Amino acid sequence: MRGKIAVLPGDGIGPEVIRVATGVLKAVEERFGHDFTLTYGEIGATAIASAGDPFPENTEEICRSSDAILFGAIGTPEYDNNPAVRMRPEEGLLRMRKTLGLYANIRPVTTFDDLITLSPLKEERIRNVDFVVYRELTGGIYFGKPSFVAKDYSKAVDTCSYSRIEIVRIARLAFDAAGKRSGKLTLVDKANVLATSRLWRKTVQEMAADYPNIVLEFMFVDNAAMQMILNPAQFDVILTENMFGDIITDEASVITGSLGLMPSASVGETVSLFEPIHGSYPQAAGKNSANPMASVLSLAMLLEHSFGLAEESLAVREAVAEAIARGIVTNDLNTTKFFTTTKVGSAISDIILSKSLAE
Ligand code: IPM
Ligand code: MN
Repeated sequence: MRGKIAVLPGDGIGPEVIRVATGVLKAVEERFGHDFTLTYGEIGATAIASAGDPFPENTEEICRSSDAILFGAIGTPEYDNNPAVRMRPEEGLLRMRKTLGLYANIRPVTTFDDLITLSPLKEERIRNVDFVVYRELTGGIYFGKPSFVAKDYSKAVDTCSYSRIEIVRIARLAFDAAGKRSGKLTLVDKANVLATSRLWRKTVQEMAADYPNIVLEFMFVDNAAMQMILNPAQFDVILTENMFGDIITDEASVITGSLGLMPSASVGETVSLFEPIHGSYPQAAGKNSANPMASVLSLAMLLEHSFGLAEESLAVREAVAEAIARGIVTNDLNTTKFFTTTKVGSAISDIILSKSLAE
């Protein structure tokens, strides 16, 4: 198989973890006989520095002319601590999502047997956890207008806005996903307070008629945040709006054991994008210590979603699980015996290649 992948390492630990993911891709190419062409593009703070724009036109072209996008992370602290700054790196990511029509962000939450004792949550609560969050990604309070801060900083406004069509298109994906899984869909909203949430609830309720085999539940987001800790195994597919999804998926990463293990896929109108859910983790940037597994697992999602390479995707996920089982992990997963980012990466690649010798 031949394919074109846009690679956008971005800021902070992005370049290090993406380097590992592309190394793993090489191992996959070698073992399974594929040939992918990678085209690199700039995004975020690095793109502001070099092109004066966090999502330059050239990067957009690279994305549009590829079959899939592999993205690292965005953001640097200089911008976070300076609210007056004119252009923010995150704008690049948000504009990319919007421009490319990436309206559904799919975030699977699973556990690894060898890590189950690592979560701060009790083992019996997280043992059978296996759910997926469908987070709306191009609407809501992230994009609503008006949005401004008064010049004298006496007031600020953000607007949460949704239209029916924005809800229908992601809800379809979530209903379909539930149909392929255990058949349960939970809409997380705040319909007791927010008008947009009432629109979500009404729209999804009406759609349920087309999916008679799906059990549809509703849960307020404050309760969902609590249930995710109390009894996360109750969830199968969660559907939610942009900001609720952002918040509850960081919370959900605690179940898995580390934010450094959570991959995601953003899909929509055209080309799909794959990214770890962790941010740019600037404290670790350049130290060769960040966990590359979320990026590698994002690559696994890419192989399956964009190229239909299910066996290859499984081989990557199994190699990650085996590296974990052998204790070849970064310091987020084991604070006493840990390895570097590059060492974890080469171990995963070696496991993939050694399986090809064994066959
Ligand atoms: C994420 C991130 C982004 C978001 C930031 C970096 C803009 O937290 O992908 O979850 O809030 O969507
Ligand atoms: Mn987030």
